[in-house]
Amino acid sequence: MAQPDSAQRLRVSAPAKINLHLRVGPPRAGDGFHPLSSWMVTVGLFDNLEFTLTVQPGVRLSCDDPAIPCDASNLIVKTASALLDTVNASRAASGRKGVGASAALQKRIPVGAGLGGGSSDGAFALVALDRLLHLHHSPADLATLASRFGSDLAFFFHGPSSICTGRGEIVRPTPPPKPRHAVLLLPGIHMPTPAVYKRFDAMHSALSTEHSALTPEPDWGNWSTLPAIHLLPFLINDLEPPAFSLNADLANLHRRANEIADRPVRMSGSGSTLFTLYDTAAEAERSAEHFRLSLRVDARAVEVCPTSS
Ligand code: C5P
Repeated sequence: MAQPDSAQRLRVSAPAKINLHLRVGPPRAGDGFHPLSSWMVTVGLFDNLEFTLTVQPGVRLSCDDPAIPCDASNLIVKTASALLDTVNASRAASGRKGVGASAALQKRIPVGAGLGGGSSDGAFALVALDRLLHLHHSPADLATLASRFGSDLAFFFHGPSSICTGRGEIVRPTPPPKPRHAVLLLPGIHMPTPAVYKRFDAMHSALSTEHSALTPEPDWGNWSTLPAIHLLPFLINDLEPPAFSLNADLANLHRRANEIADRPVRMSGSGSTLFTLYDTAAEAERSAEHFRLSLRVDARAVEVCPTSS
């Protein structure tokens, strides 16, 4: 995923993810976060990031999409600044000058779409800086640093196919699914994740704390052997009802997509991306075309767990 350009510059491709399966438990007493059990996989849709080391301290970010904030609220700036702060503290202790970075982001993963684009960017910023600065941190160490900034970041250090538990930050690699092609329906709807979880709580207020969406865990090993048409009926996303209740257009698209597809259509994360799975690239391409023509929606055939960018 990373190509050295010169000693001071590095380009990385940050993949999107989808949640094949997402079960959600009742909110935790302390922080209100929800315990999850999710099978997450990377998909062949990428943001591109180019990092350059600078002598000026701090992190400067630019982006080809003017809608993306490039200030301290951006996950790239957050994770890169946290790493550079530690590096510069140890440099200062040994009398060396500090170092900064500039980053250029080509944004290709839709925002607010349940595809983890911002999280992937934040994670791959750490991968890039670790390589540029020859820090040799383990993926587990980088994941621990990154998970301070969001529930989804840790996955990207382990992918391409993992079971994520806790609030999402406990990541256990698992064999990729047999179907290695997906069609993503990208309706251009921005779903606010906290609002979707809030609606989930409102819809589940009668749930006891023994709510058992999370246990027992599925037999992931067996699921990974199933072709698309047999795997899809097992897949559940507990955030679909609250997301569809918050956004009628998304609910409508999901209903129509299920009507015209020959297999179940699911939602990724807190939405708005919908997806379904195929065993071959040709089937996925044909179906993407069918969705585009019938639903007038941006539909893309992508690889699941792609081996390269
Ligand atoms: O961790 P992240 O920044 O992705 O979470 C965004 C919001 O989603 C949180 O502020 C919280 O409202 C909700 N969330 C949750 N339980 C999770 C993950 C996210 O309630 N496991």
